[in-house]
Amino acid sequence: MTDHGQNKVIDEGRQGEAILLEQSNDVQGKKLYVESYGCQMNFSDSEVVASIMSNDGYTTTRNIDEADVVLINTCSIRENAETRVRNRLTEFKHRKEQNPDLVVGILGCMAERLKKSLLEEEKLVDLVAGPDAYRDLPNLVEEVGTGQKAVNVLLSRDETYADISPVRLDQGGISAFVTIMRGCDNMCSFCVVPFTRGRERSRDPHTIVEECTDLFAKGYREVTLLGQNVDSYRWNLTSKGEIKDTAQPTTNFAQLMEMVALVSPDLRVRFSTSHPKDMTDEVLEIMAKYENICPYIHLPVQSGHTDVLYRMNRGYSREWYLDRIDAIKRIIPDCAISTDIITGFCGETEQEHQDTLSLMDIVQYDFAYMFKYSERPKTLAERRFEDDVPEEVKGRRLNEVIDKQLAHSLASHKRQIGKTVKVLVEGKSKRSDVRMCGRDGRNSMVVFPAGAFDKGQYVMVRIEECTSATLLGEVVEVLEPAQTLQS
Ligand code: SAH
Ligand code: SF4
Ligand code: F3S
Repeated sequence: MTDHGQNKVIDEGRQGEAILLEQSNDVQGKKLYVESYGCQMNFSDSEVVASIMSNDGYTTTRNIDEADVVLINTCSIRENAETRVRNRLTEFKHRKEQNPDLVVGILGCMAERLKKSLLEEEKLVDLVAGPDAYRDLPNLVEEVGTGQKAVNVLLSRDETYADISPVRLDQGGISAFVTIMRGCDNMCSFCVVPFTRGRERSRDPHTIVEECTDLFAKGYREVTLLGQNVDSYRWNLTSKGEIKDTAQPTTNFAQLMEMVALVSPDLRVRFSTSHPKDMTDEVLEIMAKYENICPYIHLPVQSGHTDVLYRMNRGYSREWYLDRIDAIKRIIPDCAISTDIITGFCGETEQEHQDTLSLMDIVQYDFAYMFKYSERPKTLAERRFEDDVPEEVKGRRLNEVIDKQLAHSLASHKRQIGKTVKVLVEGKSKRSDVRMCGRDGRNSMVVFPAGAFDKGQYVMVRIEECTSATLLGEVVEVLEPAQTLQS
């Protein structure tokens, strides 16, 4: 994931780690401090929360000591994600003992999953708001002030926060997340998200294009369209594909992506996450058609064995998945592909694990996020199957998967040596002031000597060296901004 400008990114969100959002503001008044854990969706939601609270007179602060309200946007995806948040909440509890007026609230997936228990049984927080209840936050904060129990964990069938213009928490940033849909209807057996985020719903495409146009005007040069399953984005269409209102146009994901790509050829378009069972050739063809849609697809496989995929309720087989990979390689030959893999899912045999490794050899992923299975309460897997792979076996299999991926990532980067790639400059490299960094379209981090260009500009970089994580090279050309198609 990209470095969000001024924000302090503690770690990569998809791994259930923390992203700390901070923004300084000099305006006097009530101060809000927001900390985000989990996926990009949570990061994006925190910007919606900041917007809702700013309408109620709050400004965001990077200094927790001056905050009147502390909100922690949480993740439930794996047990360790929740443990981390609990530890943080205990720290906040000590802070509250010193400052009884401080309001501490929990948002996001843990709030939805645990509902009142953090407030009533564990007395760790004053306020609990689920992912569809953020419009209610100003009321909830007021209720805390009057000594009431402030809880709203209602899930909605239609809330998309479409009309809310998010407050970007990385002032001067160049890359932004734009949520295009919420919830998930898939019910993968290991996954808690359908329980914490509710039913799938898509956002009005015109509000999405407006938001992207506005971001471009403010200097942003990259948008990532977010949804748990972007391929099932649909506007004015039922899940069966029937038109809801015949007087209105319909929009599917391929069409939405094209609309966003047309905002400007200088605005890069990315998206996450694609689902193998739903990813169409139409989406791939639109990607191939527009240079500013990045040739990078995150296509989580989870396991390389059909029986495991069946137990996971993923809705595809190994063969189906490999057919989708073939389609990507055929339609977008230079496309980078990354994945998510879970090791030690219920009943996973050694042979099934070997088939995950063999699938990795076939696909040759450029990058992967890899996890040990963590049983989550209420999920189908928890109810139907035994979490029977011993912890050390899960760990050993995870290490094998990680070792293979490191070799594939290095090989993928080595294939880039000698090529010239287009990079969106993000700023100074973390390790050195005389170097700058940015990502190429394939989402690789590229480091190069600083020069007469700044963040937000595009440069052509000839790749000379690499590690499994980074490409290193020389700038051979600084690109002039392209004319926008709209002008
Ligand atoms: N919507 C996305 C994934 C969201 S969660 C998709 O369908 O691909 C991100 C990743 O976390 C998943 O792809 C999966 O690999 C991992 N994950 C989800 N639940 C998990 C669990 N119970 N244990 C371990 N990893 C899990
Ligand atoms: Fe979870 Fe599956 Fe939905 Fe992804 S598609 S959020 S893994 S239920
Ligand atoms: Fe975590 Fe919820 Fe995202 S469980 S991964 S924050 S949707």
